[in-house]
Amino acid sequence: MIRADDIVIAPPAHDEPFDPRRFFDPQTPVELEIGCGKGGFLLDRARAHPQIGFVGIEWANKYFKYAADRMARWNLRNVRLMRADARHVVLNSLVDDCLGALHVYHPDPWPKKRHHKRRLFQRDFVEAAVTALHGGGLWRVQTDHEEYFQVIRDLLDQHPLLRQVPFDSDESAAPNTNFEIKYVRDGRTIYRFAVQKHP
Ligand SMILES: C[S@@+](CC[C@H](N)C(=O)[O-])C[C@H]1O[C@@H](n2cnc3c(N)ncnc32)[C@H](O)[C@@H]1O
Repeated sequence: MIRADDIVIAPPAHDEPFDPRRFFDPQTPVELEIGCGKGGFLLDRARAHPQIGFVGIEWANKYFKYAADRMARWNLRNVRLMRADARHVVLNSLVDDCLGALHVYHPDPWPKKRHHKRRLFQRDFVEAAVTALHGGGLWRVQTDHEEYFQVIRDLLDQHPLLRQVPFDSDESAAPNTNFEIKYVRDGRTIYRFAVQKHP
């Protein structure tokens, strides 16, 4: 049996390089989820794909601990969780060409204009994330916030190495995250967008 402590990984110290592949067997493809919250999506996907390694980064300690306990209860050996500001990790530490896929579901929209600078999706973040994806890697994003969605779509659309692909190009069409479930119940529109890095 594994414990939550086996799931938890430390954030990179002093902006040292972070290669998420080091936690898994060589050749294991690795996927990253940013803002994994209570870990609903990671849990489903890691159970369905034991041959893939998953890393989740979550800032809120309460959700982070909840998710780590949850992964341990399911004895998931292919998941690691880091408590950190994912924007900082991606910009300063994530190494090139290390990710097979990147998942960002319901990133905080920071709707007030004066708070837009706190948003995850900004040009520098997109550039760093694309560098971390390997050729052919997939990036899926979902939000319930229309204005933020336009911003995200424009940023991804304009990147020369990305091309739009169907969101449901693999079997787990809807990520089924905690926020998605809540918002669908409330009747909100969910906006989805997926891109692939040029091989
Ligand atoms: C709206 S919730 C969505 C959670 C989950 N993805 C879902 O769909 O149910 C946004 C999550 O992202 C986390 N978050 C926001 N900014 C973050 C950052 N810079 N680094 C890591 N986590 C972040 C928040 O703590 C929160 O758990």
